[in-house]
Amino acid sequence: MIVAIDGPAGSGKSTIAKEIASQLHFKKLDTGAMYRAVAYTALSRGTDLDDEAAIEDLARSIDIRFTSATGEDTMISIDGVDASKEIRTPQVDANVSKVSAYPGVRSAMLVHQRRAAEDADIVAEGRDIGTVVFPHAEVKVFLTADPRERARRRVLQRHAGESLSCDAIEAEVDETLAALKRRDKLDASREVAPLVPAEDAVHIDSTSHSINEVVSMIEQLITEKR
Ligand code: DC
Repeated sequence: MIVAIDGPAGSGKSTIAKEIASQLHFKKLDTGAMYRAVAYTALSRGTDLDDEAAIEDLARSIDIRFTSATGEDTMISIDGVDASKEIRTPQVDANVSKVSAYPGVRSAMLVHQRRAAEDADIVAEGRDIGTVVFPHAEVKVFLTADPRERARRRVLQRHAGESLSCDAIEAEVDETLAALKRRDKLDASREVAPLVPAEDAVHIDSTSHSINEVVSMIEQLITEKR
């Protein structure tokens, strides 16, 4: 079975997908991490992000691997080196939409994404899973949340375990919100595989639902299709 979860940044896709994978023993595929790996590698090598051909070559040549036992946090390695933290910096956030808009980058990632679903039940999350990667997925969800709430979640996630003042948090939420809106706009307006809901996707707004509630809703959809 394939469960596709698409939606904008910070809508809760990763957390929800992780929980479903853990509870149902599905494989989890974080496709955003793959585009992040391309952006991070280009930035660290000093490759010109405007050089489409060079970025596409890079995407085809790097070896991206996930190591995650079901339900655990995904670790990602690029050419054998762990880059799980490095792909989540604000610098990667700011540049990933540019590289993920290149058709050659997308086709290189698509091959790996489809291979991951061979012989496995999988919950895959991203922007084009239900529309392009797995158009025949049995369950498709389009997950959204209020933009400010999404920005707040990102900030709290970034500072998990630290004690920050409310003012400091709110200031960072403002900054993150602006960056997040920029990224949503780029992801939704690109020509190839834009962020749009599949026609047959079930829309879930997670703003006022707990993680467990959203997980239950999706598990209900899975049960209906089994
Ligand atoms: O889910 P995320 O924030 O880690 O995704 C990072 C970026 O990768 C996102 O801004 C757009 C791109 N992406 C994509 O184009 N297609 C996907 N299926 C997943 C992510």
